[in-house]
Amino acid sequence: MPDIFDVLAERRSVRSYTGEEVSEEHLNMILEAACCAPSAGNLQAYEIVVVRDLERRKLLAKASYNQDFMVEASVHLVFLAVPSRSAVRYGKRGEELYSLQDATIAATFAMLAAHALGYGTCWVGAFDDFRVMRVIEAPDDRRPVAIIVIGRGRKEEGITRRRKMSSFVFAERHGAPFEHKPTMAKLVRPGC
Ligand SMILES: Cc1cc2nc3c(=O)[nH]c(=O)nc-3n(C[C@H](O)[C@H](O)[C@H](O)COP(=O)(O)O)c2cc1C
Repeated sequence: MPDIFDVLAERRSVRSYTGEEVSEEHLNMILEAACCAPSAGNLQAYEIVVVRDLERRKLLAKASYNQDFMVEASVHLVFLAVPSRSAVRYGKRGEELYSLQDATIAATFAMLAAHALGYGTCWVGAFDDFRVMRVIEAPDDRRPVAIIVIGRGRKEEGITRRRKMSSFVFAERHGAPFEHKPTMAKLVRPGC
């Protein structure tokens, strides 16, 4: 199993898949990893809909403005925020912020776990909320946050660049330069 820094460094968005299944055991590991994520007040104000059915995956790809590559990925995990769950304790902040953050972090954990298991993944955020909700038959008060698609990558993906760190990491106060001293070469993306 790769270490956490290998996972962070080597993960890429994958948009071409072989269609090979994600094993039952691996799918369960990925979901367990999602459940390890922190959440506000430990409320876990999110839900995950596991979609393996081909017809439903096609509909999710359509609902995602025809991102056809999604269909080749054998599992789609739809992460939903449950604003009402967070609102009970945290009011408006829970409703508008924490529940979305809970879902986002859980999706991130799932994505990284899938990568660690050797799968390709892509975070899909461009979709029509209403259509996604209809495809997975979710109650109206949920909010879809991300679809993580998972499958066997068809090819090696290129590395993407990053903004220069000095343009968005500051020391002590906004705008003051932070002196970045690179450590592990593998963690430093081009442009960084
Ligand atoms: C909030 C969010 C929404 C995204 N939506 C999409 C999407 O709808 N389709 C897609 O192909 N990639 C999507 N991505 C993936 C990004 O394009 C990708 O992470 C970025 O280009 C950096 O490339 P990398 O993931 O290979 O490092 C999204 C990523 C995030 C975090």
